[in-house]
Amino acid sequence: MSQVHLIDHPLVQHKLTLMRRKEASTNSFRRMLGELSTLMAYEITRDMPLQDIEIETPMETMTGKVIDGKKLVLVSILRAGNGFLDGMLNVVPGARIGHIGLYRDPETLQPVEYYFKMPSEMAERDIIVVDPMLATGNSAAAAVARLKQMNPKSIKFMCLLAAPEGIATMQKAHPDVPIYTAAIDRELDSHGYILPGLGDAGDRIFGTK
Ligand code: URA
Repeated sequence: MSQVHLIDHPLVQHKLTLMRRKEASTNSFRRMLGELSTLMAYEITRDMPLQDIEIETPMETMTGKVIDGKKLVLVSILRAGNGFLDGMLNVVPGARIGHIGLYRDPETLQPVEYYFKMPSEMAERDIIVVDPMLATGNSAAAAVARLKQMNPKSIKFMCLLAAPEGIATMQKAHPDVPIYTAAIDRELDSHGYILPGLGDAGDRIFGTK
């Protein structure tokens, strides 16, 4: 069973509540998402492996610690996942970025990939897949399945809000992938929107409604 990590830091919870409000403008929604992404990135990278290196301070030689291994990859599920990237890059500025685009086939209701672009050497990298809303979980599960074909070192999934349905989908399909979220909401409505939620994350980030 994949672990669900609820990021319940007071600043995260405070900003999330302000973002959910229907009065939040595109400007403030975006700004708060940026701030939240930075805070969440700090939490999700807590267990990154370190290696010792020898350095010289102005005083003497010492052994310091730096992040080990190849650069992390942030994989954005288009389009709302892009809203997480700038804030996360504040704490991992060297991270590589991948994009995956999926749409739902109206007949089969299954996710179909229309875009996929990843950095090189994925097999040697840790991946954080980002999408603000874990609703049905179908896109997240499909994205993770596609990424697993590249044999990465590890995969984590990060969202802002998770519905119980989405968590169940991910836990069934990918019990090895931990989920990091700022809230677990009540349920999905009949259109697959999260309740109480925050509406359409893409529209709110990009001001398209
Ligand atoms: N995607 C969104 O943007 N909002 C939801 O509530 C569910 C999926």
